[in-house]
Amino acid sequence: MKTIDDLQVAGRRVFVRADLNVPLSGGAITDDGRIRAVVPTISALAAAGARVVVASHLGRPKGAPDPQYSLAPVARRLGELLGKDVAFATDTVDDGARATVAALADGEVALLENLRFNPGETSKDDAERGAFADRLAALADLYVGDGFGAVHRRHASVYDLPARLPHAAGGLIATEVGVLRKLTEDVARPYAVVLGGAKVSDKLAVIGHLLQRADRILVGGGMVYTFLAAQGHQVGDSLLQEDQIPAVQEYLREAAERGVEFVLPVDVVVAKAFPDLGTKASADPQVVAADALTPGVMGLDIGPETRKLYAAKLADAATVFWNGPMGVFEHPEFAEGTRAVAQGLLDSPAFTVVGGGDSAAAVRILGFDETAFGHISTGGGASLEYLEGKELPGLAALEDPA
Ligand code: 3PG
Repeated sequence: MKTIDDLQVAGRRVFVRADLNVPLSGGAITDDGRIRAVVPTISALAAAGARVVVASHLGRPKGAPDPQYSLAPVARRLGELLGKDVAFATDTVDDGARATVAALADGEVALLENLRFNPGETSKDDAERGAFADRLAALADLYVGDGFGAVHRRHASVYDLPARLPHAAGGLIATEVGVLRKLTEDVARPYAVVLGGAKVSDKLAVIGHLLQRADRILVGGGMVYTFLAAQGHQVGDSLLQEDQIPAVQEYLREAAERGVEFVLPVDVVVAKAFPDLGTKASADPQVVAADALTPGVMGLDIGPETRKLYAAKLADAATVFWNGPMGVFEHPEFAEGTRAVAQGLLDSPAFTVVGGGDSAAAVRILGFDETAFGHISTGGGASLEYLEGKELPGLAALEDPA
């Protein structure tokens, strides 16, 4: 894989595919970690005299402009972090983008509007994606892939565009791949994986692969309730993927057969309704045993006994990979499980990797010193798929010689 040092960037338009998919609340960025992570690449290119055209997705708009997913706040924050103006193009490949890019002088930076405002970005149709990639290619001379969080997506700007331009990997992708490689080759054991978060179906799919690699799997977040249901317990109004119950039962059976320790919560924090993340008003949380959920309550965090149990399971690990918060950490009444796991990683002598947009944001939002972890990855789904050993379209495209 080439790096930016292999490219002659002075005076050239360099398209940087970043992952600036940051959490927003009421239009304000609540965690800018993904923006900060790509600043060194953008700064290096600008310092070398490139005309830098940054592009990203934000959220999951439906292929058309949608103001709640505008990258305008990100452009402002990127400008602050770079210490220079960032020109913002209010479209992706139309007049706004063309004019903004044409106006760039050497060393200047522009950000395009959300790539997913165009249906071609995420299209399953190769021709439609290719047509969008052609239009993006017309905006640049060179391509730098540095959106690690999106490399598992076969999207136009991630997969099709690098095939159309001389390309290289940015520094963030190089660092991320270097760390994750350590977890796939010669991992120090015991190897514990903590899985949580809300994107339940994405996570369930990776467990089958992790069963072949990890010694211990600790489960938290929304997935918990599908596991509890698979063991025959009531889950009340908690998040449940009923169609996944047979798969989960199979995982539990396979884990027992392989001697992989599967650790599930022994207690959970419940409330009658999903908490108000805006006002953070009390949701009247209660702690109940994991096998004692009743109709009318939903599980929103792991309970105090589970926190102790999980800390103990991390204490003697040699490697820990953690993906996904343990509960609705954005509300203080349901943040303690996530806090306990973060603290458990810090207290463990293990090499610790925090993988994922959500868990990385949680670590920072809860006030932990991010430098105290072995590595905080900007990619959630991407890091999981890397660990699964899957070919990631965005990395494969960068490996292709150009
Ligand atoms: C992420 O948040 O994991 C990445 O930005 C990818 O986003 P996506 O799951 O919407 O493709």
